[in-house]
Amino acid sequence: MDPYLSNEPLLSSDVGLMEGLVSTRAIRLYHDEPIPNEVLRAVCFAATRAPSDSNRQSFRFLVLSDGLKAVRAKTLIAAAAQKIWDFKREAEGYTSGSGNDETTPKGRMNRTMERYIENLDRAPAIILPCVTFSGEISFLDGASVFPASQNLLLAARALGYGGVMTTWHLWAEAELRELLEIPDDVYVAATITLGRPLGHHGPVRRRPLPELIFEDSWGQTADWVVDPPGTTHTGHVPKRPTMKPTRPGGEP
Ligand SMILES: Cc1cc2nc3c(=O)[nH]c(=O)nc-3n(C[C@H](O)[C@H](O)[C@H](O)COP(=O)(O)O)c2cc1C
Repeated sequence: MDPYLSNEPLLSSDVGLMEGLVSTRAIRLYHDEPIPNEVLRAVCFAATRAPSDSNRQSFRFLVLSDGLKAVRAKTLIAAAAQKIWDFKREAEGYTSGSGNDETTPKGRMNRTMERYIENLDRAPAIILPCVTFSGEISFLDGASVFPASQNLLLAARALGYGGVMTTWHLWAEAELRELLEIPDDVYVAATITLGRPLGHHGPVRRRPLPELIFEDSWGQTADWVVDPPGTTHTGHVPKRPTMKPTRPGGEP
């Protein structure tokens, strides 16, 4: 136990809850500076305040900063991310057309992703949200780790940090399990990268509200279902490409 932190209250923030909820972007580029322990403690504390199935609190967070194993794990995750991104870039057409044009959202995303993946092994922290389960893993186990993960990202945003939830671990899962001694009855649900943003948070863009919110019947809108003034929207929503994780000795 850290004798200093155990007497310190949680860090506070003047970002309002509503403001934070609508302006927490996926942050992929970070300053090259470590995340102080008091920040890690605050975001993890916020994460563990999330609801879970029967308050079972089956979520666990494995934090990788700068220890020997963490450095090795980050290298494994970065290599896996490169493979997944190479696949996705082709599958979702980032290598052609607007993907090559940095004046378009797709082109900017392509460039950001390239920089993100190039620097992934130097991300100030990588956090693996995990969930313990017994018997067969169920939907409820997943439903108990993602609210906590979002709490973590929101707390990071409140304290001037940022991150993104990803699935980069998927193609390095066996190696990560061995290295980090993750038991078989623990599901690794995601990979969150975290740091102080090189860019900034701001209003997030989504599809227009009436496409996403219905009242009374599926597909039926209501007069209160309207975006606030100034809301901007995303364009098309990409279809999910099909790909399988690599297992040791296998190919993607
Ligand atoms: C379940 C899940 C998986 C995701 N996987 C990845 C990923 O593998 N790589 C990545 O860069 N972002 C990943 N994301 C982040 C999304 O791309 C991001 O949340 C989305 O583009 C919205 O970004 P915005 O909030 O900045 O608008 C994932 C998000 C979720 C919730």
